[in-house]
Amino acid sequence: MIADEASSVTDAIRSRFSCRAFAPRPVDEAVLRQLLEVASRSPSGGNLQPWVVHVLLGDSMAKFRAMLEPLLVGNPMGGKAEYHVYPPSLGEPYRTRRFQVGEDMFRTIGVVRDDRPGRVRQFLRNYDFFGAPAALFFLVDRQMGPPQWADIGMLMQSLMLLAREQGLDTCAQEAWSSWHAEITGFLGTPPELMLFCGMAIGYRDADAPINGLRSRRAPVEEFATFHR
Ligand SMILES: Cc1cc2nc3c(=O)[nH]c(=O)nc-3n(C[C@H](O)[C@H](O)[C@H](O)COP(=O)(O)O)c2cc1C
Repeated sequence: MIADEASSVTDAIRSRFSCRAFAPRPVDEAVLRQLLEVASRSPSGGNLQPWVVHVLLGDSMAKFRAMLEPLLVGNPMGGKAEYHVYPPSLGEPYRTRRFQVGEDMFRTIGVVRDDRPGRVRQFLRNYDFFGAPAALFFLVDRQMGPPQWADIGMLMQSLMLLAREQGLDTCAQEAWSSWHAEITGFLGTPPELMLFCGMAIGYRDADAPINGLRSRRAPVEEFATFHR
C-alpha cells in the first residue's frame, strides 16, 4: 500500500505516475518555488544547469487557456514539433512498449482499439493540462545538445519526485511541442530558446479511472547487463 504522499525516495519513485486527471484545487506558488529551488540541486554536466523553466498558475493559466482555445477549434493537433518526439521509424522493443502503454491507458477509460475519435479526444486532454491548475514549460538553449537535454530530464524527474512529497502529481508533456510557436510567443521567450516539454502539476482526481493506470516496466535482466 503506497501512501498519498511520499516520505522516501523509493516511495516517491514508486508512487509517481503520469497523472492525466487533476482536481481543481490550486497549487501554492510558494510550494512550486520550493520544488524548483530543491530540484535545482539536480546534477548537470559541467554544472551548466541548462534548464529554463516557465511556471504558469492562477491568472496566467487562464490567459494561456484563453489564448489556445480558439486555435484548438481550427487545428486541434497543433503544428509540427521542432524535434522528433520519437524516432521517425521506431524499432523494437520500443515500438511495442509504446503501443502497450497506449492500449493499457485506453483500457482504463473503456476506449476500444478502433474508437479513433475516443483516442483523439483523450489525447487532446493534453492541451488542457488534463485539468491541472498549474503547469511548467521547460526550454533549452538551441546551442545545447543531447547531454544537456538529459540534464533537463534530471531536473524534471527531481521535480516530479519532490512533487510527490507534497502530495502533488505531475504529467510530463511533450505533446506541447506541437504548439511551440504559440507557447514561446505567449511566454515571450527569445528565439534562441526552444520549447522541450511541458508538465502539468496539481492534485490528482482520485476518482478518475485514467489515474488507475500503472505502466509496465521491463525487468532488470532485459535492460541491464551485469559483468561479473
Ligand atoms: C519527457 C516526457 C514527455 C511525456 N509526454 C507526455 C505527453 O505529452 N502526454 C502524456 O499523456 N504523457 C506523456 N508522458 C508520460 C509517459 O507516457 C509516461 O511517463 C510513460 O508512459 C510511463 O508511465 P508513468 O509516467 O505513468 O510511469 C511523457 C513522459 C516524459 C518523460
